[in-house]
Amino acid sequence: MVQIRAFAEADTEAVVALWQEARLVRPWNDPHRDIQRKTTTQPEMFLVADDADSVVGTAMVGYDGHRGWIHYLAVAASQRGTGLGKALVGEAEAMLAALGCPKVQLQVRPDNTDVIAFYESLGYATYEAVSVGKRLESDEAVTP
Ligand SMILES: CC(C)(COP(=O)(O)OP(=O)(O)OC[C@H]1O[C@@H](n2cnc3c(N)ncnc32)[C@H](O)[C@@H]1OP(=O)(O)O)[C@@H](O)C(=O)NCCC(=O)NCCS
Repeated sequence: MVQIRAFAEADTEAVVALWQEARLVRPWNDPHRDIQRKTTTQPEMFLVADDADSVVGTAMVGYDGHRGWIHYLAVAASQRGTGLGKALVGEAEAMLAALGCPKVQLQVRPDNTDVIAFYESLGYATYEAVSVGKRLESDEAVTP
């Protein structure tokens, strides 16, 4: 039976492998460093779905005092379509609501717009906004 629980350090390599399988890893985001960072901030909101000691899903959740965010939502290909993605989002929403968070949002990359139908089925609506960002720390290897 799949259990949703908080991430533990021993999950690290399985989580990175899942993110690679789910094509969520990008060269500018080192997954190991992203995991390490999350262990310093609301670590209890980094969720994994555990199926007999195998990591089959993740959701990295956080509340910044204004909005709740979900990053790295992933379900193993072998478990997709079974309601696990919905369960992870539901658990994320419940944790955020318990903190008084009024709204949860997330970003979908332009090459992954098929997933919007999944979010719409969970009551999410798209809205127009331009994302603006600036890195404070580079994850890309520095060439000598
Ligand atoms: C997106 C993802 C997490 C969905 O997980 P999942 O476990 O397959 O989804 P669920 O089985 O919980 O589906 C929940 C609902 O969404 C619907 N749904 C799921 N994927 C869908 C899709 N691609 N298009 C339309 N509807 C979809 C399901 O039919 C279901 O509807 P229902 O409740 O009416 O039956 C999974 O496909 C995944 O890991 N994708 C790769 C990583 C990714 O793109 N993550 C999102 C980054 S923004």
